[in-house]
Amino acid sequence: MQKLVEEIQKLKKERNAVIVAHNYQLPEVQDIADFRGDSLELSRMAAKSHARVIVFCGVYFMAETASILSPDKTVIMPDPAAGCPLANMISAEDLRELKSRHPKAVSVGYVNTSAEVKAELDYCCTSSNAVKVISSLKDAEEIIFIPDKYLADYASKKTGRRLISWDGYCPTHVKILPEDIIRSIRLHPKAKVIAHPECATEVAALADEVLSTGKTCEYVKKSEAKEFIIATEVGLVYRLHKDNPDKKFYPASELAVCPNMKRTNLEKILWSLEEMKTEVRVAEEIRKKAKKAIEAMVAIA
Ligand code: 13P
Repeated sequence: MQKLVEEIQKLKKERNAVIVAHNYQLPEVQDIADFRGDSLELSRMAAKSHARVIVFCGVYFMAETASILSPDKTVIMPDPAAGCPLANMISAEDLRELKSRHPKAVSVGYVNTSAEVKAELDYCCTSSNAVKVISSLKDAEEIIFIPDKYLADYASKKTGRRLISWDGYCPTHVKILPEDIIRSIRLHPKAKVIAHPECATEVAALADEVLSTGKTCEYVKKSEAKEFIIATEVGLVYRLHKDNPDKKFYPASELAVCPNMKRTNLEKILWSLEEMKTEVRVAEEIRKKAKKAIEAMVAIA
């Protein structure tokens, strides 16, 4: 593995590339990355970086978001087949149809959507700022919120706003069941429970905190607590351990493994740098519209 790491480091310099990895990536991929973070943190880091090439270790919509924000850079994905089933649960056509049924509604969409869907939105949001974005829409008569029904439910409860939601969900987060949390609390009674807002409503209801992966990292660092039950994709636990060696982390369910996030490995990173493949680029017309929805979010959050 060391040889592979050295080859990647050498080629990365030659290509003037930066490697970014989502918090759910394999440990060795997180270790080789220049930046780790949640979906939006990574795109922002990529945009700020002076590198010409961004090697995006995550899923497709995240690489697209990086390309939307950094059209002058070359965004490559080591495995472009790493998709997001939640993002694939709504198409631009579906959203247009939903909007036509609610012509007065303001449309808000989770960052886990395709660029074509973002281009149809008034506001984008992430799991860390969904509540803030919805709260800001005081004058909106109706609000459409797509595609995650559990994030919609959580944001609706927090803001007291009724949301017109979509029947989308993350197939990995729904594997975490309320009984997993109850059992984990029984085994670790002193631990704080942190759930991702993509978890089912009954799971989120059992948590002390409902946070995005990036906010979970911040919270754990600051917390006085020494033990944490983590209800999200298991990859986050590796990062939490590494950043907080004096604290203990228990995944709520070992079944919460995202197969798409695990598609990227060191070999594929090396090949992607060798061949400069596979580039992810968003058509300019779509990009401009999608960027507006992202900027509208940034202005609020
Ligand atoms: P975060 O933005 O919290 O990292 O979530 C990303 C994601 O896709 C969760 O499934």
